[in-house]
Amino acid sequence: MKHIISPTDLTVSELRELLDLAEEIIRDPKKYSNICHGKKLATLFYEPSTRTRLSFEAAMLNLGGNVLGFSSADSSSAAKGESVADTIRVISHYADICAMRHPKEGAPLVASLYSSIPIINAGDGGHNHPTQTFTDLLTIKNLKGRLDCLTVGFCGDLKFGRTVHSLIGALSRYKNIKFVLISPEELMLPAYIREEVIEGNHIPYEEVRILEDVMPDLDILYMTRVQRERFFNEEDYIRLKDTYILDMKKMALAKPDMLVLHPLPRVNEIATEVDSDPRAVYFKQAQFGVYIRMALIMKLLEVV
Ligand code: CP
Repeated sequence: MKHIISPTDLTVSELRELLDLAEEIIRDPKKYSNICHGKKLATLFYEPSTRTRLSFEAAMLNLGGNVLGFSSADSSSAAKGESVADTIRVISHYADICAMRHPKEGAPLVASLYSSIPIINAGDGGHNHPTQTFTDLLTIKNLKGRLDCLTVGFCGDLKFGRTVHSLIGALSRYKNIKFVLISPEELMLPAYIREEVIEGNHIPYEEVRILEDVMPDLDILYMTRVQRERFFNEEDYIRLKDTYILDMKKMALAKPDMLVLHPLPRVNEIATEVDSDPRAVYFKQAQFGVYIRMALIMKLLEVV
């Protein structure tokens, strides 16, 4: 049995198979419409979510399976003090596979140690968000045609943004990748990721403050929200939240085929005027999230 706690829990070859399956689903979704009949997905969400929880649920329903779960810690027995370990021991008897989001880093890993069903990390604190990364990779592969030879800019909250941490880890395994890290000083990428993942894999990178300076160089611009819920101090959040706002003036500096991704939700960091630019693919990206989760559920349940 396999759990997905980090994006690199799949080898590059397994990831290629997953992406190929997702693209097959895009071409012929009806082919898989009953493949998970009789199977149940539990969504245990201890933290708010729109896309991840509902796309997991849509994915399982699209496969002919069923879903059960909770959407906040308050509506589960976590509010009475039940541990993640005890919860998953019980849920293992109720479902065949589980997607878990938790504000504490490592909670899905703990769950995997006590589970008799596959656990998928649906986001753990400021740590990892592997299925968002698989979504991002599918978006890039499908719309750009490749996952190598790319200059990828990450802009905004690189300190707390778990989607950034996960995508950097995943892209570091491809050839001729360059990272451009665009953030204020206070929200720079954590040193352990820079040193272990980027420098450890000899990936060229630069750290900059001004988005406009690097716009012409980028093949992908990955915008992120400043993660209010991870700040200890509201004043710091207010001071930093509007550091970067992508608008059409900045888009005019970019390559004609640059793609703008964002894991969403968006707050202020992308002006709504950008939405109609064909390079803005964040809503398409959210749609791809359903297909990649369908592929992942099928792989983990070994029904394909
Ligand atoms: N991208 C993402 O994780 O969105 P949600 O928080 O809405 O699930």
